[in-house]
Amino acid sequence: MLDPSADEIRDWGNSVMQFMADYLGDLRDRNVYRHMSSRRIRDRVDQTLPSKGTDFEGLLKVFREAIVPFSRQNAHPRMFGYVQSPGTPLAAFADLLASTLNANLTVWRSAPAPVELERLTIDWIRQILGFNAEASGLFVSGGSMANFAAMAAARQAKDCSSGRLRIYASSETHFSIAKAAALLGIGRDNVRQVAVDKHFRIRVDDLIAKITADLEAGYVPFCVVANAGTVNTGAVDPLAEIRKVADRFQLWMHVDGSYGAFAVLAKSARKLFAGIEQADSIALDPHKWLYLPVDVGCVIYRAPEIARSAFAHEAEYTRIIGEKADEAFAFWDYGPELSRRFRALKVWMLLKGVGLDSLGEAIESNLACARHLQSMVRASDDFEMAAPVELSIFCFRYVPVRLRNDSSQAIDAFNERLLVALQRDGSSYLSNATLGGRFALRGCVLNYRTTLRDMEILLDDLRRVAKSLPASPQARNASNLTTE
Ligand SMILES: Cc1ncc(COP(=O)(O)O)c(C=O)c1O
Repeated sequence: MLDPSADEIRDWGNSVMQFMADYLGDLRDRNVYRHMSSRRIRDRVDQTLPSKGTDFEGLLKVFREAIVPFSRQNAHPRMFGYVQSPGTPLAAFADLLASTLNANLTVWRSAPAPVELERLTIDWIRQILGFNAEASGLFVSGGSMANFAAMAAARQAKDCSSGRLRIYASSETHFSIAKAAALLGIGRDNVRQVAVDKHFRIRVDDLIAKITADLEAGYVPFCVVANAGTVNTGAVDPLAEIRKVADRFQLWMHVDGSYGAFAVLAKSARKLFAGIEQADSIALDPHKWLYLPVDVGCVIYRAPEIARSAFAHEAEYTRIIGEKADEAFAFWDYGPELSRRFRALKVWMLLKGVGLDSLGEAIESNLACARHLQSMVRASDDFEMAAPVELSIFCFRYVPVRLRNDSSQAIDAFNERLLVALQRDGSSYLSNATLGGRFALRGCVLNYRTTLRDMEILLDDLRRVAKSLPASPQARNASNLTTE
């Protein structure tokens, strides 16, 4: 099993390809989700620590029968929960090839061509965003790690010896920013939550007021985080205005574009991102709106030498001997990881294989799906929008006539139960958001398979499932409500 022959490899490969083709071929007919318990899953997997091996067919059988049916089908066209990409066969092959080569992208000499491919692909992303030619970066595990790396670089840019550092970000900002602040020793409490307007965009007046008050109180403001697509509603902060504030107070401007930034490829959304290229750093996730499978996030720095001063660490075992310039390049100087898989291969294959025009069209179609849902909700007498659609996220509530006169708490409680019931039903999958203290059903279209018809099916599913729910909420434990 450790060292199969070429014929065995072909046999295993054929079985895997057969599975993949069948699985993706009838994906639409499957449920997105199937209610399951931890015990039921564990019972299906032999838990004995194996001293002897199992043949490949035996391993694949467990994957097919115990893992696949008890997983959420993230590639399904009506998987609207969280910010979930579907993956694509092209990238699955790229991952297989990357693991076959098993390149370790620490430094140029360890993986010359893979490192060149990552630098090229990062440069393509830089061009997509319109950053200056000197900007550069690297692939990391995801948006959280990209935000972390950017916060580390931002801290490096400021003299932090004179007082407590402060980061500014809207109340809608993803929790990975606060987590990065905690891990970097800045402290969660030093991430100041700035108020948002009715479109859930940061209020620039409140941003300025908070920075001014902090300066007067002796804090050291050093970074403002702008969102290019918030996780709750997809709001894009006014990036050009935030740049001006950053310049006025000499702050590092970081953009969290983990969810939304690739929507710059869609014509109808492009204007929302004006000024994005002026950021000092940006986090973005090819494993979200480039449809790639996890894990691949990306951080780009406008001035990479600042990131280098945050991350470079000389040690004898990493010393590069006898190499110059391009060949002495080390990714470990620009991010937190040393050993790194060949993430660039799937990004490169996607960009080269699909091309920006088709990717832009797919993103445009996702935007159209979210707008279609919004139009249907607005035209209906049993749903209401909870936030305006900006990109491909939609937040709404079910409020049929029988609930109209109930309190907002009762309507929210009903919608919580409806969400759990919808997830268990399995035809469509939503997650949830809390907006202005109120519960909302939340969906995100991030799949090139999703059609306008799927949005109609989603509303039909909700109406059908709602019929089976009693109007009065029994206090029920909605413990499987989660936010990602
Ligand atoms: C706006 C935003 N930032 C950061 C993240 C974290 O990204 P990741 O899950 O890749 O770490 C997310 C995840 O949904 C997000 O939506």
